Amino acid sequence: MEHRIKKVLLSEEQIQKRIDELAEQINIDYEGKSVIMIGILRGAVMFFTDLAKRLTIPVKMDFMAVSSYSGGTRTSGVVRMVHDLAENIEGKDVLIVEDIVDSGLTLSYLVNNLTLRKPNSIRICCLLDKPYQRTRDIETNYVGFEIANEFVVGYGLDYKEYYRNLPYVGVLDVEE
Ligand code: PRP
Repeated sequence: MEHRIKKVLLSEEQIQKRIDELAEQINIDYEGKSVIMIGILRGAVMFFTDLAKRLTIPVKMDFMAVSSYSGGTRTSGVVRMVHDLAENIEGKDVLIVEDIVDSGLTLSYLVNNLTLRKPNSIRICCLLDKPYQRTRDIETNYVGFEIANEFVVGYGLDYKEYYRNLPYVGVLDVEE
């Protein structure tokens, strides 16, 4: 099996500039409120920290880990909760921070799961949106970039756990 980056889709500069814009909008929308940012591990880790540093509203941070891809290029169709929140979110405004929405399975699972805990509001902030393979209806509130149906890695996204550390998003060429 061979894999390599065949092109840079979003450069570090493009990503950072877009996060400036998203943060500006979030700061406006949550003015006078505080928010619990929920980072969805592991893919969202880079986006989460870069976004958090730009927020000027009062922020708490919490994390969930879910997995449905098990390292490969296709969703298994089953979302597994690997790690749950530490905080109680009842009555709170929560902002889910994700790296990518593809089939929508992960976010629909998360929204259903978090809704049961009775937060005041749930919004979704996601760096990448691949709208072409959606099997679940998901309403995202803040989206960094809409991208085509290519397998992307970097800036948190992996292929068999590699490439998450890249500062940019690249398209992977995989021969299996
Ligand atoms: C990836 C990504 C999203 C999800 C999106 O997670 O981080 O959570 O897939 O795909 P979907 O819309 O088709 O559900 P993955 O399960 O690979 O776990 P990871 O975050 O640990 O990489």
